[in-house]
Amino acid sequence: MMRYERNNIKTMRGYVSGEQPENDKSVKLNTNENPYPPAPEIQQVIVNFDVKVLRRYPPARADKFRDLAASLHKVDRHNIIATRGGDELLRLLITTFVNPGEAIAMTDPTYSLYPVLAQIQDCPVVTVPLNEDWSLPNDFTERINKADCKLTFLVNPHAPSGKLLDTDTLACIASELDSVLLIDEAYVDFIDDDYDSIPLIFEQDNIVILRTLSKGYSLAGLRFGYGIGAEPLIRPMLEKTRDSYNLDLISQLIAEAAISNHDYAMENCRKVIAQRNTLRDSLLELGFSCEATQTNFLLATIPTGFACSAKQLYEELKTQGILIRYFSDPRLINKVRISIGLPEENKKLINSIKSL
Ligand SMILES: Cc1ncc(COP(=O)(O)O)c(C=O)c1O
Repeated sequence: MMRYERNNIKTMRGYVSGEQPENDKSVKLNTNENPYPPAPEIQQVIVNFDVKVLRRYPPARADKFRDLAASLHKVDRHNIIATRGGDELLRLLITTFVNPGEAIAMTDPTYSLYPVLAQIQDCPVVTVPLNEDWSLPNDFTERINKADCKLTFLVNPHAPSGKLLDTDTLACIASELDSVLLIDEAYVDFIDDDYDSIPLIFEQDNIVILRTLSKGYSLAGLRFGYGIGAEPLIRPMLEKTRDSYNLDLISQLIAEAAISNHDYAMENCRKVIAQRNTLRDSLLELGFSCEATQTNFLLATIPTGFACSAKQLYEELKTQGILIRYFSDPRLINKVRISIGLPEENKKLINSIKSL
């Protein structure tokens, strides 16, 4: 069978999805999901759903959702593409703007799906290591242009550090780059500073912004995201590279209800932000170092002389039914990433760490 696989597929490793708990009693703080439920109107959409309508194909371009998103962000429908999670948008950007063999740029560390998607398209990956404090090196754009990259992935706020770049910096990066720039704003709803990068799509012709309902709207199980960009970037994805009916009818109706209840979701995000600050204070008290973040997770460094390593901490907590994330990447080896949970979940985590 193996002889039928393309060479690049044969040699690559697939994306490793986040660990799923064995039962509902687990405290799941490993994949940056939102601990609060989605808007009650979504339950109503499901309760009132008439299965007979499933006999027809869904709206191909999710135009109702696109209109709602356009109105929320004060852009036009033509600036929006709806996708099966933010992840589908990443794949569309590659198939639309990068030929096999052409380079794709990203920082190191970054979202671990980017290199996997690049490998699927047989594209070399150009990684630019972040500075010690997770800031971008001064020659970031120069290195990417020199390597002739066709697409640059930049996650903002950054994962896994939670650090935020301001919009002036983003504008500068976009204007210097020769490539398309994807600004991945999966965690944008947890920013507590003033931040709005959307006007940049009218100033720079190479920016696409990724948004998702998975985090801020508590809908990771739905698989719904969208891209925002100048029409010449959105149109080829919408008309040519997107799957014929990429979004089923049920998810479109739920996504419409979710974005119509934006304020409900933002209220939940404010609760997450408050919990983020409390959890960070508790970790600092225990001797962890832990930068303030603009996301729904914290990157905590194990104190020197602590009872165990980051990996052992992850393993020990797992035996107690608490899932967090550790990384084998050398720069992250002494760190764990903790998603912000409900107040009682965060307390349980802190008590378990204390008992170590
Ligand atoms: C940085 C980043 N970008 C994009 C995504 C994709 O989100 P989704 O496909 O669930 O919309 C994630 C999910 O964890 C992420 O962490």
